[in-house]
Amino acid sequence: MATLARPRPPVLSLIGNTALIPLHFAEVDRTLYAKAEFLNPSGSIKDRLALCIVEDAESRGLLHDHSIILECTSGNTGISLAMVGAAKGYRVHILMSESASIERRHLIRQFGGEVQLFKATNGYATGIDLSREMAARDPRIFLPRQFENPINAQDHEEYTGREILSQMHGLVDAFVAGYGTGGTLTGCGRALRATNPKVRILAMEPAEAAMLSGEMPCCHSIEGVAGGYVPPLLRTAQLDGVIKVSSADAIAMTRRLSREFGLLVGTSSGANVIAALRTAVEMGPEARVVTILCDRAERYYSTKLFAN
Ligand SMILES: Cc1ncc(COP(=O)(O)O)c(C=O)c1O
Repeated sequence: MATLARPRPPVLSLIGNTALIPLHFAEVDRTLYAKAEFLNPSGSIKDRLALCIVEDAESRGLLHDHSIILECTSGNTGISLAMVGAAKGYRVHILMSESASIERRHLIRQFGGEVQLFKATNGYATGIDLSREMAARDPRIFLPRQFENPINAQDHEEYTGREILSQMHGLVDAFVAGYGTGGTLTGCGRALRATNPKVRILAMEPAEAAMLSGEMPCCHSIEGVAGGYVPPLLRTAQLDGVIKVSSADAIAMTRRLSREFGLLVGTSSGANVIAALRTAVEMGPEARVVTILCDRAERYYSTKLFAN
């Protein structure tokens, strides 16, 4: 069986090195800096994770010609893994909650990936348990384990975090982002804190599922974040605080980003911008606050974001 790492096709070289966009909000006279992760080739921040996990597995001889990459995901990771799998020639099988937007299923299938839906009775944990059972039965299965794989946070530390530092000339006072796996917050947080120990690392979470704030997870419309589970990777993040954003506010800001800034992004991007703006207002006009625009809006046509 061939276990050698496969060459990186050109499309995968487009991952990372995304732009950092200044966004000025005149009503409060604050400028935020937003990392445009929706510019990654499959349209989300998760392209970084998919590429680093697959190439790490290749380098450790864990992927073979007959391997099946199997992951439980709210969607974006599935799309990214399907893209990387298509480009490198691996079979990809995605377990996805029934509640994830239908566009995500279509996109995974368009890349040649297989989709299996599950009822998320216990949030992400339901799908994670199912993926482990399937892997125990089938030796061809490789589990990227995005929720616990340390490579996830390491890659954000080495690349996303360092890109932000270089784009901000080393001057960052606060970093604000939502969490799915916690990889972005943990990894970027580590990189930023290594340069400035006083930088504030803040988690955005849906007001309806404020688990870090000690509340019960409930249904919210900020897809991709807070899946009813506080992931192990997030526990290692040194957070300075949590900012709750309601789904309605997130949707309103996401629409505003499209209509006033020309940024066609998904709902978690709007939520991140609200949380970052609140932080900038609180910290003062000199504070340099960075956040993430996680993905593109086109994968939300069937959701409340477009229901108007
Ligand atoms: C739209 C969106 N926003 C934010 C995140 C959070 O990223 P992370 O998993 O690094 O915490 C995700 C992750 O799935 C996502 O899909």
